[in-house]
Amino acid sequence: MAEDLPGLEALEEGCPSELAARVRAARAAKLEADVAAMQRAAAGLPPGTPVRCAALEAAVRELAAREQRLGFHARLAAEVAERFGTCGAGEGAAGAMRSPNGGNSTGQLPYSLDNFAYGSTPYATWLKVLSAAGDAVEAAMATAGREYVVWGSSCGWLVLYGALTYGWRSRGVEILACLHETAVQVAAQLPAGGPPGSAAASFRCGDLLLDDVSGAGLVLLADQCWDPQLAAAAAAKLGRELLQGALCVSYSGAALETVMAPEVAEAGSVSGGEPREGMGGGADEVGSGGGKGRAFEEVAVVRAPVSWAEAQPFRVFRRL
Ligand SMILES: C[S@@+](CC[C@H](N)C(=O)[O-])C[C@H]1O[C@@H](n2cnc3c(N)ncnc32)[C@H](O)[C@@H]1O
Repeated sequence: MAEDLPGLEALEEGCPSELAARVRAARAAKLEADVAAMQRAAAGLPPGTPVRCAALEAAVRELAAREQRLGFHARLAAEVAERFGTCGAGEGAAGAMRSPNGGNSTGQLPYSLDNFAYGSTPYATWLKVLSAAGDAVEAAMATAGREYVVWGSSCGWLVLYGALTYGWRSRGVEILACLHETAVQVAAQLPAGGPPGSAAASFRCGDLLLDDVSGAGLVLLADQCWDPQLAAAAAAKLGRELLQGALCVSYSGAALETVMAPEVAEAGSVSGGEPREGMGGGADEVGSGGGKGRAFEEVAVVRAPVSWAEAQPFRVFRRL
């Protein structure tokens, strides 16, 4: 065991400071590797992409520093325990934010503690996922004013990637106040600049089930740890609100691949009836998510590293 975990031998031999030094060195090396990968990925963007490399690097270094502080994780654990942990699943917790539909007596969905697991996604992974979707991303974001929205935006990584790479109007929605505040602080510290007309990132603290995504061209669901009922409610909401051609990126995709187009659901097809011919944009059986009457078709699947796995699957879906 001590051979498998770097530093464990030092701990067993009663040298915790040596273990701490090794962990710090491993994290520093990982950060430098992530920054180098980010620079390579950004250098490969098509000419004319309004990428702001210095601001991206500043954001990644600051977020990495913050996520390594003990105080960051202590505040995160305390907020989750206070708002979602005291009453157990089904009881919900105190707090000003409310979820619609399927909530308990306080109006909130009964979120579990696992629903709030912390993780982060490197820039090079994010860009690889968008590149896998090819022209569909450009088409989805082509209309002026289209938003890029991250549901479950944590401390803002994925939102800042979009704003600082493509100049997209980028918005994050995060239910935990401590993570939301970190995102706002880090974004405010970034060097000013950007081409004329490029939009800043913005952050909203609240339940994603209360968010309006009807103006979004691209929605990224940070759903790898979400409770199944949240993932299902989010997918149904996307099916109702997104415009045709809008894209969703999911770390799971399970809920998106089965959600029915609202017009089909309203016609009673969900509860056993045959889906109507012609619904679903004619994309019958595209990938694993384009069955008749489905709201989404799958356009890409890609595996790439994240903080908790070497080959996390990402799935990209398009609203039919
Ligand atoms: C695993 S984290 C996202 C990390 C992200 N994948 C990344 O790599 O940066 C999932 C986030 O969803 C947030 N979340 C969970 N339920 C939510 C809800 N109902 N509304 C908004 N955010 C929510 C959690 O607090 C958490 O920050």
